Amino acid sequence: MDKEKQLETFQRRIKRVLFTQEEIQEAIRKAGKDISDSYDGNPILLVSILKGAYVFLADLSRAITVPCEIGFMCAKSYYSGTVSTGAVKITMDLDQDVSQYHVVIVEDIIDTGRTLNDVVNLLKARNPLSLKVVTLLDKPSRRKVDFKADVSLFTIPDHFVIGYGLDCGEYYRNLPYIAEYDEGGE
Ligand code: IMP
Ligand code: MG
Repeated sequence: MDKEKQLETFQRRIKRVLFTQEEIQEAIRKAGKDISDSYDGNPILLVSILKGAYVFLADLSRAITVPCEIGFMCAKSYYSGTVSTGAVKITMDLDQDVSQYHVVIVEDIIDTGRTLNDVVNLLKARNPLSLKVVTLLDKPSRRKVDFKADVSLFTIPDHFVIGYGLDCGEYYRNLPYIAEYDEGGE
């Protein structure tokens, strides 16, 4: 592999920065404060669906100043055409019994809304004290199921985005900002 050529292609596909590190941190500080202000004496469980939300979770959790735990899930949803079969397969489940917590699902981006819709229904059936969805990004124009996050930090049009945990073919998750991906060219 030619190192220079690989790097040149890698960098060229970062079309333009949509949200800087500073803009993201400012929005996270506010979201963290709102979650902290909602504390009622019961613990909060931040639930992240791997892998895209790992960076957002790391920063949001550090902006929270009240007792909270972290949990991870891996989930896959199955569809017949555009209709959910209702079968969300959990390939890795939470350790915690959610009935003891105020659950906050921390997501990177809501696109069609399918995966999160199924995960929310599944977790609600386990009777958490309450359940909220906080998403870093929202693309409402792409929705295939009627799903709305409780908190959305940034709303974007139908662009494919990378960085700050979001990938394209597993690359770019480590960019410290959110950028539009350039799909054209070699
Ligand atoms: P959906 O809402 O069930 O369609 O799934 C949303 C998931 O698709 C997210 O958690 C991301 O992993 C992925 N995704 C959707 N849009 C983008 C994007 O613009 N960039 C990177 N990943 C995306
Ligand atoms: Mg994801």
